[in-house]
Amino acid sequence: MSTALVILAAGKGTRMNSDIPKVLHPIAQVPMLVHAMRAGSVLAPERTAIVTGHGAEAVAKVAQAEDEDARIVVQDQQLGTAHAVAQARAALDGFTGDVVVLYGDTPFLQPDTLERMIAARADNDLVILGFEAADPARYGRLVMNGDALERIVEFKDASDEERAITFCNSGLLACDAGTLFDLIDAVGNDNASGEYYLTDVVEIARDRGLKVTAVSCDEAQTLGVNSRADLAAADAVFQARARAELLDLGVTLMAPETVYLAADTVIGRDTVIEPNVVFGPGVTVESGAAIRAFSHLEGCHVSRGAVVGPYARLRPGAELAENTRIGNFVEIKNAEIAEGAKVNHLSYIGDASVGAGTNIGAGTITCNYDGVMKHRTVIGENVFVGSNTMLVAPVTVGSGAMTATGTIVTRDIEPDALAVGRAKQENKPGYARKLFEMLKAKKARRDKGA
Ligand code: UD1
Ligand code: MG
Repeated sequence: MSTALVILAAGKGTRMNSDIPKVLHPIAQVPMLVHAMRAGSVLAPERTAIVTGHGAEAVAKVAQAEDEDARIVVQDQQLGTAHAVAQARAALDGFTGDVVVLYGDTPFLQPDTLERMIAARADNDLVILGFEAADPARYGRLVMNGDALERIVEFKDASDEERAITFCNSGLLACDAGTLFDLIDAVGNDNASGEYYLTDVVEIARDRGLKVTAVSCDEAQTLGVNSRADLAAADAVFQARARAELLDLGVTLMAPETVYLAADTVIGRDTVIEPNVVFGPGVTVESGAAIRAFSHLEGCHVSRGAVVGPYARLRPGAELAENTRIGNFVEIKNAEIAEGAKVNHLSYIGDASVGAGTNIGAGTITCNYDGVMKHRTVIGENVFVGSNTMLVAPVTVGSGAMTATGTIVTRDIEPDALAVGRAKQENKPGYARKLFEMLKAKKARRDKGA
């Protein structure tokens, strides 16, 4: 059976108090909408329609970056969840199979929950996802009759008796496409909010003699994000889960609660992560590496046996080969560091390649930016770059070469050559003593005058 996803993402998210559309706020560095799309991807959807409204353009861009085939639908006015789904009709034209409706702001849905909904469709026309709410608050209530779902009552429209129900509507549903759009056609807006409620399809389906049921999942999966506090709480839930997964995979986290992970962070077994490390998007760390305290990594790859930090920053395009060493206060951007090379202290290596076995001395800078363009620095194998060398790119340093401390390299260096480019030192005997005396006398005069 083929499936299509309809993801509702038109809402403004007023309580986020933000210029950014709600579904684009990130959890573990990935927009909520993308979490929802990835959750839905377990169904291998034949089509995906994203219903956008507030910030439609920005939402569309993110959706299509994740899935270029995602169809963007614009709901100009937010007239309710049924109206939102109705907007996807054209995008699903010609599609036959099941539609699964998800919300863009519920990032914790687990794959097996969607699979259970689809499984329940085998002997039901319409399947709703419900959960036992610890605090049912303003959720829609599921009115059950045995296994059959009779109707959903929105909080605003519910009687006291109905409000006492704790089995609540998550908002997710699964239904044959043709049936769903027929049901939606019959939904009106005669209710406390004056909105077209998607939840009304349940009662309409029952009236038509269709079979409706509810599948249940734990509340954590249906957690919606409506405020910054919800966002922080959702991120915390995500982090706890991701850390536990890494520990299970054989990664050592010395202080798990201080390690911040991205949704796509990959770390191999026997790698040690010291406290206070931040992973941005797009990081892979192979087995047996060490990421030492207070390091920040994004868009980079760290190979087996490499040691990073403490206090290192790996930016996008940093590629560390096996057994490399990146030490304290070192920043690497868009640069390949080959096997066994070392950049141990206080350096910036950007738009560069560093050959195997090369040692980069403390305070070395690749001067990659001329104010307009970026240029590359190419350093060969087994080079010794002296401390405080400035490599003014574009420039090439041949294998086996050496630079004297403090050299400003503006021309290519041939292999095995020594480059020295600094002012000659002069020692003036007795001058230091004279200078101290002069300065002390000056200070004494100043202190007296004051
Ligand atoms: C909805 C359900 C309620 C359920 C709750 C779970 C309805 C009528 N009610 O209520 O039973 O317990 O979710 O969180 O469905 N959206 C649009 N366009 C619209 C309206 C909404 O895209 O015109 C999107 C929102 O951006 C959001 C989702 O649909 O992602 C849900 O809308 P929301 O207004 O939060 O519905 P609730 O009142 O919370
Ligand atoms: Mg809501």
